[in-house]
Amino acid sequence: MDNKKEINKRRTFGIISHPDAGKTTLTEKLLLFGGAIQSAGAVKNNKIKKSATSDFMEIEKQRGISVATSVMAFNYSNRQINILDTPGHKDFAEDTYRTLTAVDSVIMVIDCANGVEAQTEKLMEVCRMRDTPVIVFINKMDREGQDAFDLLDEIESKLLIKVKPMSWPIGIGATFKGVYNIHKKELNLFSGNKTGIEKEVYKIDGLKDPKLPDFIGNEETNTLKDEVELINGVYGDFNQEDYLNGKVAPVFFGSALNNFGVQELLDSFIEVSPTPQSRETESRIVEPNENKFSGFVFKIHANIDPKHRDRIAFLRIVSGKFERNKFYFHTRLQKKIKFPNPTSFMASSKSVVDSAFPGDVIGLYDSGTFKIGDTLSEGEIINYKGIPSFSPEIFKEIQNDDPMKTKQLEKGLSQLTDEGVAQLFVMQPGNRKIIGTVGELQFEVIQYRLKQEYGATCSFVSRNFFKACWMTSSDDDKLEDFIKRKSANIAYDKDNNPVFLAPSPFLLTQAGSDYPEIIFHKTSEFKLDE
Ligand code: G4P
Repeated sequence: MDNKKEINKRRTFGIISHPDAGKTTLTEKLLLFGGAIQSAGAVKNNKIKKSATSDFMEIEKQRGISVATSVMAFNYSNRQINILDTPGHKDFAEDTYRTLTAVDSVIMVIDCANGVEAQTEKLMEVCRMRDTPVIVFINKMDREGQDAFDLLDEIESKLLIKVKPMSWPIGIGATFKGVYNIHKKELNLFSGNKTGIEKEVYKIDGLKDPKLPDFIGNEETNTLKDEVELINGVYGDFNQEDYLNGKVAPVFFGSALNNFGVQELLDSFIEVSPTPQSRETESRIVEPNENKFSGFVFKIHANIDPKHRDRIAFLRIVSGKFERNKFYFHTRLQKKIKFPNPTSFMASSKSVVDSAFPGDVIGLYDSGTFKIGDTLSEGEIINYKGIPSFSPEIFKEIQNDDPMKTKQLEKGLSQLTDEGVAQLFVMQPGNRKIIGTVGELQFEVIQYRLKQEYGATCSFVSRNFFKACWMTSSDDDKLEDFIKRKSANIAYDKDNNPVFLAPSPFLLTQAGSDYPEIIFHKTSEFKLDE
């Protein structure tokens, strides 16, 4: 069986940005090109309103919609493009980190006025952990913004990646005339056409073409020539290998809202971006073209209808061919399961699929068998790496407000934490349960969902911890000694690993110097956080 042709067709990526930079708008325009949607506005609904931090009904509504838009697949230019949606809200950052384990590359959107923002930096850190190839799209060029050279400098210094401009803007904001495609030597003139697909692309004979001033004016021509000469001198030629190794980010300029520079981005993307890649497991590297099927679950989505408690597990296929109704091996539970109704996320025909290939994401109906990070295979015990838990930043102890519903509370908490909504740590004595999250919003989600889906009532008491650190040590006795001495700050995660709930940065540093034999890790997968 040779899946090579299918594998080579696929491109699976995520679009990431600081909220408001234009991720949703760009996604929508890409879908328009792929014919996956007919009009703008279809994806927009997926956004959790930034102001609605305490409106959980809104969250529920959004969750419903986001099942449909979590993965958007479409065909373009004989490729199958799979876009994995990443929530923009910072309280769902962990969801985004996990989704990034399932992509082969990313497009990062940067607002030309705001430059590199806090969330952009955090997301880039995650990309760097795995050397994920990144393409940068500098958006909103129709608005006044920072100087293009300054933006490139900022990207290099704050995101710690080299850049290579593939196009260059002619003016900005009110004076924005378009971009010059350095790679293809084409002129792409800006017309401010919001809905149509851009047409004004002119093949010119490089910057020496005598027609150039007719298009953009004499002064602009001279500036463009000077700037492109400078760029070529400073940034050199585009090296695809460096991009694929996550060392260089090609940069494009455009305006997603005006559908400008988007096709250029998409065309270059499919030319240079990686095909489905191999993935590391605890024992070996799994290649996409292996004959045997394997894949991992990176996201679990609960059904919002309490009458249908089914959840959808999102499985990224890493190797081989997935087939409907065939028995596969669930490596954690060590049992065989078959899936009669796996769904695809082809935007044009959302339906049951008979088969799927590396790079694809399929939805599996799940009534509680999956946890994030679970693997399916054809029998081999495989545990994919790279789906760590990150140290939460907010900690609260959960109080059971209805002792009659203790069982329901336990079950609900277990399932919600399997879904990755939050992390659960248990402290002794008394089996006290500490919930750790990256945002306040999750506590409202947990409280609401425990009530709605499990009939359990709870409240939270804030606990002042700074970080949860997983620990490893070459000296078991020292580790044991530390756990004993610091028992008031030791908890156990879901897999029963001991965790130090450090009260402050100072005390964490002190623990490190008192116990040099112990390594304190800020992610559960130790290799990644150093
Ligand atoms: P996000 O998903 O990254 O959070 O950003 P989103 O696409 O929602 O864009 C944020 C705002 O920026 C939106 O305006 C959007 O219309 C605008 N925008 C996106 N791309 C461009 C662009 O190229 N040029 C300009 N001028 N604006 C752009 P909004 O007012 O917040 O929302 P809406 O009322 O337009 O929906």
